[in-house]
Amino acid sequence: MTPYFTPRDGGETVFTVNSCAMKFGLGALAELGQDAAMLGIKRAALFIDRNVSETAPGRTARESLAAAGVDFAVYDDARCEPNSESIDEAARFASDGGFDGFVSIGGGSVMDTAKAANLLSTHPDDLMAYVNAPIGRAKPIPGPLKPHIACPTTCGTGSETTGIIVVDLKDAGLKTGIASPLLKPTMAIVDPATTESLPGGVVASTGFDVLSHAVESYTARPFTSRRRPHHPGRRPPYQGATPYNDIGSIAAIELGGRYLARAVKNPGDKEARHQLMFAATLAGLAFGSAGVHVPHAMSYSIATLKHEFTAHGYEELDPMVPHGIAVVINSPAAFRFTAPAAPDRHLEAAKALGAEVAGAAPDEAGEILAQAFIGLMKETGLPHGIAELGYGDDDVPALAEGAYAQQRPLVMAPREVSRDDLAGIYRQAMRYW
Ligand SMILES: NC(=O)c1ccc[n+]([C@@H]2O[C@H](COP(=O)([O-])OP(=O)(O)OC[C@H]3O[C@@H](n4cnc5c(N)ncnc54)[C@H](O)[C@@H]3O)[C@@H](O)[C@H]2O)c1
Ligand SMILES: [Fe+2]
Repeated sequence: MTPYFTPRDGGETVFTVNSCAMKFGLGALAELGQDAAMLGIKRAALFIDRNVSETAPGRTARESLAAAGVDFAVYDDARCEPNSESIDEAARFASDGGFDGFVSIGGGSVMDTAKAANLLSTHPDDLMAYVNAPIGRAKPIPGPLKPHIACPTTCGTGSETTGIIVVDLKDAGLKTGIASPLLKPTMAIVDPATTESLPGGVVASTGFDVLSHAVESYTARPFTSRRRPHHPGRRPPYQGATPYNDIGSIAAIELGGRYLARAVKNPGDKEARHQLMFAATLAGLAFGSAGVHVPHAMSYSIATLKHEFTAHGYEELDPMVPHGIAVVINSPAAFRFTAPAAPDRHLEAAKALGAEVAGAAPDEAGEILAQAFIGLMKETGLPHGIAELGYGDDDVPALAEGAYAQQRPLVMAPREVSRDDLAGIYRQAMRYW
């Protein structure tokens, strides 16, 4: 690992660690009730994934709340990949229930829905008021939200420690979000036992989200490449790669390389699933302050322009491209593009993923990392490219236009990315094998 410390002329020399209260371990959900009581929650809005509700960890969580004397009402209607309507409905539940705190138990969809319901019931306004500009009005959140304990059940998004809500805005034909440190859950409880009931296809999709978070934050532009702000309050929430985030990113890539395929192929392989949950936690903390870049920027138009695909593990839902697949389908082509700007980092990521890199030249870095991803995608039954999701050459301009609008992640890339560059990367992502 080569840490980025060397200051550049006028460049940033300081990074911050925005940690978050988090506990991790088998049985952690049994402590949920006591944690909620310690946060002063007397009546909680319990957002729980319907598929998790009747599993052992789901029951443990409810029993723990009851045993600690925390009253709660259940909301299990969160939409997979929330949209504006599903969020409005959840906000109504939150506003009407007289709650003084929130608990979310589920994947990114459930945790994001709870964050949004907390926001809209605590500081009432319509959703678009808070959504990022230029699509929304980007109104600053007026003050703190109610306490929220977030408990992830997919080895995926890292939403339990981020200040982000992702929402599918059907009318605008795109996915975007709300970002503010005030949206960060008060506490995260990560119990890896929750992963044992996940269908293999969901492990594949969410696990590749983790790998992309980790590789993107490791290869993001260095924090030293920004100018140092005159006031610490002006330091951006996404700082770029820092020596601190690098540690979590590299560890997450190694864990993903070792356990992802096992966790997908053998539902009974608890060790692999628990380790992948740890990778998700490490990667979530890393990208939450370093940032992600090209593959995520490109994922939003992939996820919104066409809804024709049904992934393994998502058969009970309407056709759609799950977030992790919408991201990783771009990753091999995107890393080929970004590698020339930081070949050492791309090679280190490939090595952590298990690729042979001894004697590799810098100009081979992108291809080696791309092939490491492609090998793992093939092995775990992912689509062969965006063509399998229903996209063709005619869709490339619209895809590129949508991705170019995602400047927040794009500026974190190690090199500048134009609309034409994005179009070229989508063309390369059409079919990998
Ligand atoms: N807020 C953030 O920082 C952030 C970051 C990345 C992605 N996201 C968003 O998160 C959402 C995706 O979340 P996700 O990938 O975690 O999946 P998800 O929450 O959409 O869940 C996927 C599927 O798995 C099922 N499931 C979840 N946990 C289960 C379990 N333990 N056992 C059995 N089934 C289970 C769900 O019912 C659903 O069918 C997207 O909307 C994405 O845009 C948010
Ligand atoms: Fe992601």
